[in-house]
Amino acid sequence: MEYKNLEELYGIASKCERCALQKTRTNVVPGDGNKNAQIMFIGEGPGKNEDIQGIPFVGAAGRILDEMLALVNLDRQDVYIANVVKCRPPENRDPEPEEVKACWPYLKEQVRLINPQIIITLGRHAMYRFLPSDLKISTARGKVYRYKSIVDETKHQIYLPLYHPAVALYNPNQKKTLFEDFKKIPKILKKINNEIS
Ligand code: URA
Repeated sequence: MEYKNLEELYGIASKCERCALQKTRTNVVPGDGNKNAQIMFIGEGPGKNEDIQGIPFVGAAGRILDEMLALVNLDRQDVYIANVVKCRPPENRDPEPEEVKACWPYLKEQVRLINPQIIITLGRHAMYRFLPSDLKISTARGKVYRYKSIVDETKHQIYLPLYHPAVALYNPNQKKTLFEDFKKIPKILKKINNEIS
């Protein structure tokens, strides 16, 4: 189904009963940020704080994301943030394939409506939803991929896989890498915009 706009999508998603996560969620967490964003961040699924507030990346990992955005002079209102699944998997387990499948049309519509210049996947789970399964996050991170769009497979989308911000909470080396990769974003975006114009 095609939605007219994000508000319509949020309205429908807020009452979603497409999978079993509806039974355990507090709130649906559809997405947050700028509807005209050039940059779209995609994580795997909401955690405890996100479930309580209905907003993606508001817990500890979210604070790291905010810190990284500030590093490149951006804030949440400049970008769009979503997750592969919109409801919290109990105990933060990985989403089941049928949960991802049930939720996928929402993500596809978000990408279609926002039409970002770049999709930045956060963590290996999110990366594998968009990019080939033979990639390894440790070598793919920080590299730009031109790969098929989830909206229209005949078209290309630009992707940048990054480590998940949560890694920065317990691994100082990965935090450093994540921040170094993050600093590449303005240059990458400038290049994409130059190619388009
Ligand atoms: N981790 C995610 O992948 N998404 C969130 O919204 C929060 C934590």
